[in-house]
Parts: sequence; C-alpha cells; structure tokens
Amino acid sequence: MSQLTEIDHVAIAVNDLAATIAWYESVLGARVVHREVVASDGVEEALIAVAESYVQLLTPTTPDSPVAKFLATRGEGLHHVGFRVADCAAALEAVRAAGGRLIDQVPRAGSRGTTVAFVHPKTIGGTLIELVEEGPAH
Ligand code: CO
Repeated sequence: MSQLTEIDHVAIAVNDLAATIAWYESVLGARVVHREVVASDGVEEALIAVAESYVQLLTPTTPDSPVAKFLATRGEGLHHVGFRVADCAAALEAVRAAGGRLIDQVPRAGSRGTTVAFVHPKTIGGTLIELVEEGPAH
C-alpha cells in the first residue's frame, strides 16, 4: 500500500508574495485559505486551495533563510513537493532504510499544525520532498 495518500502541496518560491497572490486570485479565481509566518524556517507562506490540496506560495522573511538562498541562486519557481502521508515517522524511516539522504532526521512541527520531514533532493529525482502528516506527531 502506498504511503503517499495525497499531494498535500506544491510549494513555489516567490519574490513578491502579495503580487503573486493577487495574480492567482484575479486571473484564476483562486482563494487563499491560510497565511502563516514560520519563523524557524524564515518563511512566510500563503496556501491556495486546489480541491483537497494546496499551492503553497513561499517568500523569505530573513536574508539568510533557505528560501532566500534558493531565490538568489535559482530564481522564482518550484521549491518542493509536499506529499501527505498517514505516518510521517514511518515514511521517513522507509526513506532512511533505503539509504536516502534526509534533511530532518526526525519529524517536526510544520505549518497548519502538521507534522513534517524533508528529504534531500539528491535522494531522488532532484526534487526536495516534504512528508506531511495531518496533526501533531503521534
Ligand atoms: Co512545504
């Protein structure tokens, strides 16, 4: 059985959060359903609802945040894909057991009260992956 139950979010790094939100709202009729500053990650996010998933627009809040470095080196664009999983710790353990390179060694608190862990893009497909479990770690 797949550990991946849903696309939780597709995260896009942007320079101007307000302008990007305004574009999604005015051009595509999209709706922002959640805003949050995640100080520990140095980011501000806006979640746009797409059915049961989100587009997560990310912008840095500090010059040394990882998203600031991403924008400086690669410019705006796809930053990571968040996969919803039933059990973040179990999914992370499967990646570890397969020899994957982890960014988070253990699950931690994410936005919206979720539990998350990041897997390094060098692990598979050159893409930063976030494992997202609804609610606090169990
Ligand atoms: Co994310």
